[in-house]
Amino acid sequence: MAEVELKRGLRDVYFDNTESSNVIGDIGRLIYRGYDIHDLAEKSTFEETVYLMMHGQLPTQAELDAFDSTMRSSRAIPQEVIDIITSIKQGHPMDVLRTALSALSSFEPDVDDVSHEGTLRKGIKIAAQAPTIVAAHHRIRSGDKPLDPDPSLNHAGNFLYMLLGEKPDEDTSRLMDKDLIVHLDHGSNASSFAARVTASTLADIHGAVVTGVSTLKGPLHGGAAEGVMKMALEIGEEGNVEAYLAGKRERRERIMGFGHAVYRAEDPRARHLREGSRELANKKGQPHWFEILSKVEEHMRPYAERGICVNVDFWSGSVYYLLGIPEDLFISIFAVARVPGYVVQVLEQQDKNILLRPLLNYVGPTDLEYVPIANRG
Ligand code: SDX
Repeated sequence: MAEVELKRGLRDVYFDNTESSNVIGDIGRLIYRGYDIHDLAEKSTFEETVYLMMHGQLPTQAELDAFDSTMRSSRAIPQEVIDIITSIKQGHPMDVLRTALSALSSFEPDVDDVSHEGTLRKGIKIAAQAPTIVAAHHRIRSGDKPLDPDPSLNHAGNFLYMLLGEKPDEDTSRLMDKDLIVHLDHGSNASSFAARVTASTLADIHGAVVTGVSTLKGPLHGGAAEGVMKMALEIGEEGNVEAYLAGKRERRERIMGFGHAVYRAEDPRARHLREGSRELANKKGQPHWFEILSKVEEHMRPYAERGICVNVDFWSGSVYYLLGIPEDLFISIFAVARVPGYVVQVLEQQDKNILLRPLLNYVGPTDLEYVPIANRG
């Protein structure tokens, strides 16, 4: 048997070049198209950052206005897709999202167009429609009629409006906008890599986004924010934190919201959501959750020496919880932010495509004799 060097999980394997995002793991830095995530989170908007990621440079005001107008006018979904959502309303929000995204492709006249222009046009539309799907499903399963998108609101504000039934104030809209920016893209994370594999066969953008959303759902990837809030609710009181974490350690259970396959320092995205959680907790007069999670962070400091630091999901859950969003929707918010990121990576993959086809090292038996079933024991 030939000796091969296995790279399980494809860790530390560079399979292509990219110009979209750079995850610098040892120092905890994230760059989108040359711009530091801190600058974009503090100074940009989700629409402007999506434009930057999809087109490769920051827009002029006219370019941004045109892009924003296209996004705002592309949010509606066909009634037939609403009917499908209604027929599966009991499903998990991520299962409903991937199903509805797949159904949308049946209403695309040029679903098989995998040209750059075709993928970009359809990708912008899918990014605009994803929030509508998530919000419509939540309204339908709650016994309410879906709300039509409000073109007077930006992407983040309209998402919260359609989801919660009331227009958010400026601070809340800005916090969601920041949350979407920091979740947009992140190198070759599992779901973006999966979307690239789909795109590398020249399958269409709808299929690649469905692959991404399906992959994101796993608790080791996008599902952590829900686990963090579940942990905070289980802890209940600040005074319980130490004993709770000791129990998790004894059972060798992972602490959700910590650790990362690439970062060995604090995930740079976490600070923006930590600050958002602090401000929102104080604004809502509910400092309780922020205090519990701060205590968890404090007790997890020794893990940092092993490179297990806080990640993007640790604080996002408390923001969503304080906004009154149900826990099973936390991952759907991540998906709403990441869908345009999948579009960016599919565009990059297909612009210089190569079929992604790694090897498996076969270690099973060979040359077994086929025995007819009548002669088997
Ligand atoms: C995201 O890849 C991306 O970019 C993803 C993402 C993105 O934007 O797309 O950043 C989003 O997925 C963030 C991560 C969210 N997931 C969680 O918070 C779930 C909890 N974290 C882990 O399960 C874990 O840290 C991973 C899966 C995220 C990364 O784990 P690795 O790199 O595969 O490391 P590992 O599983 O091999 O663990 C190495 C050691 C182990 O200890 P030993 O068994 O060797 O003694 O570190 C320990 C692990 O037990 N460890 C943890 C831990 N994470 C790793 N111990 C306790 N708590 C944790 N959270």
